[in-house]
Formats: sequence, C-alpha cells, structure tokens
Amino acid sequence: MPKAIRIYQYGDPSVLKWEEVPIPEPGEGEVLIQQKAVGLNYIDVYHRTGLYPVPTPFTPGIEGAGVVMACGKGTQYVSVGNRVAYAKGPPGSYSEWRTIKETDLVKLPDEISFEHAAGLMTKGTTAHMLLRRSFDLRANMTALIWAAAGGVGQFLCQWANALGATVIGAVGSEEKAEFARQNGCHHVILYRREDVVKRVRDITEGRGCNVVYDSVGQATFMQSLDCLGLFGLLVSYGQSSGPVPPFDISLLREKGSLFLTRPTLGDYKKIHGEYLLGAMEMLNHVMQGKIKIHIGQSYYLADAASAHRDLESRNTIGSTILIPE
Ligand SMILES: NC(=O)c1ccc[n+]([C@@H]2O[C@H](COP(=O)([O-])OP(=O)(O)OC[C@H]3O[C@@H](n4cnc5c(N)ncnc54)[C@H](OP(=O)(O)O)[C@@H]3O)[C@@H](O)[C@H]2O)c1
Repeated sequence: MPKAIRIYQYGDPSVLKWEEVPIPEPGEGEVLIQQKAVGLNYIDVYHRTGLYPVPTPFTPGIEGAGVVMACGKGTQYVSVGNRVAYAKGPPGSYSEWRTIKETDLVKLPDEISFEHAAGLMTKGTTAHMLLRRSFDLRANMTALIWAAAGGVGQFLCQWANALGATVIGAVGSEEKAEFARQNGCHHVILYRREDVVKRVRDITEGRGCNVVYDSVGQATFMQSLDCLGLFGLLVSYGQSSGPVPPFDISLLREKGSLFLTRPTLGDYKKIHGEYLLGAMEMLNHVMQGKIKIHIGQSYYLADAASAHRDLESRNTIGSTILIPE
C-alpha cells in the first residue's frame, strides 16, 4: 500500500505521521498521479499549526510533480504517462499517490525535471503575482526583498533583476548573502546585524524604495514602511516570523502617502487562466535560462518533519523538496 503524511491534530512537526493509505480512485474530471517530487512551502507550516485551519485529519502539501497513472471519467486534457506538476487544488501533496483535478495540472516540458518543477510551481507563481500583479515592477525602480535567499525570494530577486530594477536583498546569514548576490541582488543587507532602514536610505540616497516585498511579517513590518519612498508600496505577503499585528493606518500618511497590500495566491488562482499564465511565464523564463531554480535541500517525504524543522529554524536556502521513496 502507498504511504502519505497524515495530520490528526495541529502542532509541532511531530504531528506529521507517515502512514499507509489506500490508492485513491480518480473521480470525474480527476487523474491519479504517482508523485516523484513534492514542494515544501511555508503555508504547509501554517496548515500544520492551524494558523490557516484545514479540517483534520488531512494530508498537507499544495505542490507536487509526477506521472499520470489513471484518468477519471470526462478527462480530456491529460493522458496516462504525461509528466505533470501543480500548485493548485486542496492540500494532499505529501503522498506517494494522489488524485487531483486535471484542470489544476500543468504538463511539464521534457527539459524541466520533477524536482525542479516541485521547487518552482508555487514559489514561481507567487513571484509572478508579486512582480506582475501586486505591483508592476519596472526598470529604474528600486525594490527591497526580505528573505531574499528563501524559496520565493530566489525567484523574486532573479526576476526583479531581469526587469531592470535595482534589487536590495535582506538576508539572515553570510551564506544567504552570497546566494542572494548570485540571484541578482545589487545590494545585500544582513538584517540580523545591520540597520536595514539606514542601509536602504544610504543605497537610495535618501529616496527610499518604490516597493518592499515583505514575507517575514511581524518582525519586519514597521521597518518595511520606513524603507519606502513617497507613494511607495508595501507588499506584505507572508508571516514567517508571525502575523503582523493591527496597526494605525495614519502611519501610511505620516510616512509619505504610502500604499499597502496583502495579496494571497489563493485569490489569484480563482481568476480563470491566471494560475496557468503565471506557471507558463515562469517555465518559459527557466527554459530561456533567465531564471534558475536552486534546490537547496531535499528530504525523504517520510522525513517531512525534519524539513519543517529546518524551514522554521531559518536553516534552508532556495527551494526545499520532499521525495517519495
Ligand atoms: N501571499 C501568498 O500567496 C504567498 C505565497 C507563497 C509564499 N508566501 C509566503 O512567502 C514566505 C516565504 O515562503 P517560502 O516557502 O519561500 O519560505 P522561505 O522564504 O524559504 O523561508 C522562510 C525564511 O524567512 C526568514 N525568516 C525570518 N524570520 C523568520 C522566523 N522567525 N522564522 C522562520 N523564518 C524566518 C528566513 O530567512 P532569513 O534567514 O534570510 O531571515 C527563512 O529562511 C512565507 O512567509 C510564505 O507564507 C506567501
């Protein structure tokens, strides 16, 4: 019998249980996938802890890549044997086999490995949302990107650089600083020991940034506001350090008529075609060599708990994938 990670109660990584589960039957419009690689994302932590509640018991994970093994009634786009990937649909990717709607799938070009696809789909479509929808980043603008060496961060930096923007990356260690430079950051700030606001003001000659992409949340939110120039936009898109507490909106006036948005990929996926557009744009960039995927860590799916611990301890770089045995 195949295996999957199951969660019966919210909690620390020890709640991730590796168990035998039956092979699911694909329903109407669904296909059965044998998974070859699974992507780890911070939202998996929020699901595990109950910050974003999912009814228990459940199998976590929102991203994977594998081979279609069976097609349910009414399917028309994919066939048995197709190589596919996804970053859509209900949680359930931490499994050796899973079913999913065929319309949630992207057919993988031969040049893209399962591992790369699992490291790219969610983080790449998030970068698409942030750079092309939340804000239209263009040449000669300046962007500050927190957690620049992270999963999403690696794609944001490369893509922002390719768009011609000046990219400032904030990272937690020397090793991450080097990685951020390789990913196109023109300036790197070690935010655990440097004054980020002062460095940004120096780099921008006092003007501040046009946009700040903040995935860290609670620990960095106020600094992000202080790094913006007049009419700048704060894109607060994550909370790796904890949720941002309520704040006084008059601060936006005081700090230079600022804008603030809190986008979520889930909403963009509701727009017909938007998710496929983001995925295809990202895959094209990868195939043209404009964007590289760095898989910093790989774990057996059975050992997902170790992967969660490392992600939450800030010990990961680039994308992390989980491999079903
Ligand atoms: N809005 C959306 O739709 C959307 C979609 C995808 C992802 N996200 C968000 O994007 C963020 C990045 O996701 P990811 O999967 O790519 O993770 P990640 O950035 O690879 O990992 C999290 C990083 O955040 C930094 N960090 C700072 N303080 C931290 C703390 N107290 N605990 C843990 N990490 C901390 C660490 O980098 P340093 O060592 O450099 O500080 C850490 O490596 C997450 O917040 C996630 O929720 C949002």
